[in-house]
Amino acid sequence: MTGLAPQPNRTGERYGERLFSHQRPDEADRLQALAQALDPHTFRRLDRLPLREDWHCLEIGAGLATTVPWLAERCPRGRVVATDIDTRLFPDPAARNGWEAMSHDVTRDEFPEGAFHFIHARWVFSHLPSRDADLRRVIRWLAPGGWLLIEDLARFPLESSPHPLYRTVSLAMCDALEKRIGTDSVWARGLPSILHTEGLTDIGSEASADCVGPTPMGRFWQLSAAQLAPDLHGSFGIAPPQLDQLIAEVGTGDLTDLCLANVAAWGRRPE
Ligand SMILES: C[S@@+](CC[C@H](N)C(=O)[O-])C[C@H]1O[C@@H](n2cnc3c(N)ncnc32)[C@H](O)[C@@H]1O
Repeated sequence: MTGLAPQPNRTGERYGERLFSHQRPDEADRLQALAQALDPHTFRRLDRLPLREDWHCLEIGAGLATTVPWLAERCPRGRVVATDIDTRLFPDPAARNGWEAMSHDVTRDEFPEGAFHFIHARWVFSHLPSRDADLRRVIRWLAPGGWLLIEDLARFPLESSPHPLYRTVSLAMCDALEKRIGTDSVWARGLPSILHTEGLTDIGSEASADCVGPTPMGRFWQLSAAQLAPDLHGSFGIAPPQLDQLIAEVGTGDLTDLCLANVAAWGRRPE
């Protein structure tokens, strides 16, 4: 392993086209592990927002749609819409109680201005090269007085990891994502400022970080590393046996450390 610098050129590949495709046999498992790690933080944050029974809510890039039943339960007289560019991993229609599924590309498809009282997106925008413009459009879909909660990944806990190999490999994973699909693993750190610049009020923010090890976040890290193995070897000089050993150590708990942070920021569109 040499810690080679990433090449600045991008492939033009988008999230889910090949990397993290929902057609991969292990992708539901990877997203389930992510949801198990993040849902408790999300539900705690949602609990603090003043959602009303008749609100119209939008969940963008819902993945397995694990957060959506919570919204449907809180807003039984409203409308809850869950979107994704690929809805194949959503629960079957019979299991969708009180919410609608929609194939929708947040970088291209629209909703009417002011259509929703609450919008949530988790670990979606960092993967979109047009993230700033997309977020600006999404904020226009908020009704006056409506709330946005956005949560996204940030690499800062990895940069100070005391485990040299884990630090090198995890940061190379972030760089490989940037190179392959344009993911920005720093962007979310600036979310409070971004929401302020976009004119939201009542802004709040916090970050959480879960541990790798025999944990849901560890499983998510392992499955992400396995998908990125050819990039880590080809572009960053990380030899497959080294990666395999690190993946095994995470699984046994011989390596326990913080993973990516989950930066949350929320704010209200002015009345
Ligand atoms: C890392 S997963 C997160 C899933 C879910 N939000 C969660 O936190 O459990 C990213 C999700 O964003 C979706 N996605 C990626 N690009 C998208 C786009 N342009 N429009 C809508 N969804 C998109 C992916 O299909 C995937 O389900």
